Amino acid sequence: MTRLIVVSNRVNPPTGKGDETVGGLAMALSAALREYSGLWFGWSGKTTETFTGELNVERHDGVTVATVDLEESDLNEYYNGYANKTLWPLFHYRQDLTAYDRSYGEGYERVNQRFAETLAPLIEPGDLVWVHDYHLIPLARELRRLGVKNRIGFFLHIPWPAHQLMVTLPGHQKLVQSLFDYDLVGFQTPDYRQAFEEYVLTEAQGVMVGSDLRAFGRTVKVGAFPIGVDAAEFAQMAKSERAWRTYNVMMAHTAFRSLIVGVDRLDYSKGLEERFAGFEHFLADNPEVRREVLFLQIAPVSREGVEAYQEIRARLDSLSGRINGEYADIDWNPVRYVNKNYRRDELAGVYRAARVGLVTPLRDGMNLVAKEFVAAQDPDDPGVLILSRFAGAADQLKQALMVNPNSPEEISEALKRALAMELPERIARWTQMFETVTRDDVSAWRDAYVGALSGVRETYTALAS
Ligand code: G6P
Repeated sequence: MTRLIVVSNRVNPPTGKGDETVGGLAMALSAALREYSGLWFGWSGKTTETFTGELNVERHDGVTVATVDLEESDLNEYYNGYANKTLWPLFHYRQDLTAYDRSYGEGYERVNQRFAETLAPLIEPGDLVWVHDYHLIPLARELRRLGVKNRIGFFLHIPWPAHQLMVTLPGHQKLVQSLFDYDLVGFQTPDYRQAFEEYVLTEAQGVMVGSDLRAFGRTVKVGAFPIGVDAAEFAQMAKSERAWRTYNVMMAHTAFRSLIVGVDRLDYSKGLEERFAGFEHFLADNPEVRREVLFLQIAPVSREGVEAYQEIRARLDSLSGRINGEYADIDWNPVRYVNKNYRRDELAGVYRAARVGLVTPLRDGMNLVAKEFVAAQDPDDPGVLILSRFAGAADQLKQALMVNPNSPEEISEALKRALAMELPERIARWTQMFETVTRDDVSAWRDAYVGALSGVRETYTALAS
């Protein structure tokens, strides 16, 4: 059987016990790797004084996990710097927050070289290498320099920005060119794929060859592969003992008020300020139902080394305090704002207790909370999903109540509609969304991607073996 090597900056080995606390990418990858006797390579999350390239190797639930420590300067220039102060804001349409500092670009290149040098000796002929996300765009170029001839694929978990935005990045051509050292480049949605193609056709004199893209003297396959969740497992988890316990706690503490819930990493791309403003609007516009709701926002802190994250945290502290100050009563608080991280099985219980899931990012590659919210619902009495049209998930979850996350009025109206929605409509909408998240789940995503990667360029593998 072909071995799969997964590479990502953040590595979070599966425990198989539901006590993982991270979201997004790492969860999806651990679910995808569980069925392969694969290797997962990335950053240990730790720093040392000087880079040694020494591997920490562990086995978790059938997966070999190999990680390396980085230097403090790597952390500042590569992770906090180019990845999270340059690419992340730019790709999420926040040019105002994007910092262009040459040392960040250098750190980014350096860490990608270091990762390649540490990983290359672990790669055997026939292995498929699958690289994830914006931290590691130049990794294939570095691996090729070291003579790696295996099939290498890249998957971008975040949006690919519009052409006019991409060209504002100093050195954009070099970055895009490095994607042509992969055999397959995957995006979350057809829109992002199209934006990438448009860039290549206009900026790099690229041409389409069938469904492949040719530029910089190389041909690469491109595709849209919407990532999913382990829906069946999550639906089961929502009925676990721990989930029930959390569900009951929620029910008791909301005193049977309608629970509106949001769960996001504390990130400016998630539209939290706009969401709070939307909820405030709802309170102001609907005095008659005001005391019948409770808005729980769970937002574990994230990337605290980056100023923009410290600033959004301070603004949310003040916003939640202000709304509570304005509307709370001696026996009721409208907003419960929590920065703690919860176990997934507990979150499943929270989702199940909620009447409304509020998922309103300003931009989001996919958004897996939306899918997990759907997976966790009680089929006989499902909650309503309010979803931003700018989340990749909006492409698939068409039965959600769709909103423009920039509009507090739209969020307020959607809340009103969701809270008043009768059971038959809730069931009809939820049933279709549940079918979608179950069919297009994380295994379907992995199989589609790995299938496409396995199908390319057999010759290189033949040469390597
Ligand atoms: C998003 C990114 C991932 C990242 C995750 C958590 O989902 O696409 O690559 O791992 O956020 O962020 P962090 O910086 O903590 O890894």
